[in-house]
Amino acid sequence: MPDLPNNPRKDLPNLADLRLSYQQGTLRRAVLKPNPLEQFQGWFIQSLEAAPAHSEPYALSLATADLSGRPSVRTVLLRGVSEQGLDIYTNYQSHKGRDLAHNPQAELLFYWPYLERQVRVYGPVSPISAAESDQYFHQRPRDSQLAAHASTPQSGPIASRAELEAHFAELEAQFPAGSVIPRPDFWGGYRLRPQEWEFWQGREGRMHDRFRYQWQEAPGQWHIDRLMP
Ligand SMILES: Cc1cc2nc3c(=O)[nH]c(=O)nc-3n(C[C@H](O)[C@H](O)[C@H](O)COP(=O)(O)O)c2cc1C
Repeated sequence: MPDLPNNPRKDLPNLADLRLSYQQGTLRRAVLKPNPLEQFQGWFIQSLEAAPAHSEPYALSLATADLSGRPSVRTVLLRGVSEQGLDIYTNYQSHKGRDLAHNPQAELLFYWPYLERQVRVYGPVSPISAAESDQYFHQRPRDSQLAAHASTPQSGPIASRAELEAHFAELEAQFPAGSVIPRPDFWGGYRLRPQEWEFWQGREGRMHDRFRYQWQEAPGQWHIDRLMP
């Protein structure tokens, strides 16, 4: 693959002139599902159907914070969604893994620009079971399994690309084609159990539609508010 030009020098446009008017749709209380998981699944299916080529509607921003309150955010892929929660997979020794070990709560953000929609999900996070992580790990392409072994501790410094590739090659030799690659115990899933959801539909003139669902332990139901845009 040819290298991408690193820094094509061009003048920046005036950012204040860059704006879209959001006109794709509306969101009204009358059409909201009482259960936010169902609301999400409906929007998610529409998003998968409407997605332009080479986009990943199942990619999301995962925001975590350490105990001092320092936030950090990165993209990860949604790998499961059910009544139990939303699942992602990563390295437990990564920056996000360390944040979640000390402060096991997170917010997830989906942005689907072609539908002018955004979804936020907040809740406590816990590692998923070893059996479920094993199952997902073994569905991944072989190279991804080897890369999970090679890239650890994820987020730590490495001297060079060559060092990373040499590590990968050693692992390829250790696990010849056809052999089972065990899931490393530092790699697996996290499940976020939603306590709060927000569905945002862009509208004209910045008069967007926003609805928040909050889980109320008593009486054990979702409370819905329309929010100021
Ligand atoms: C489209 C996209 C998908 C990604 N998916 C994952 C993923 O599913 N799991 C993961 O650990 N990192 C994924 N990454 C890499 C992360 O964004 C991040 O660089 C990495 O997990 C280290 O994050 P941390 O240092 O904050 O822990 C993805 C990045 C992009 C751009």
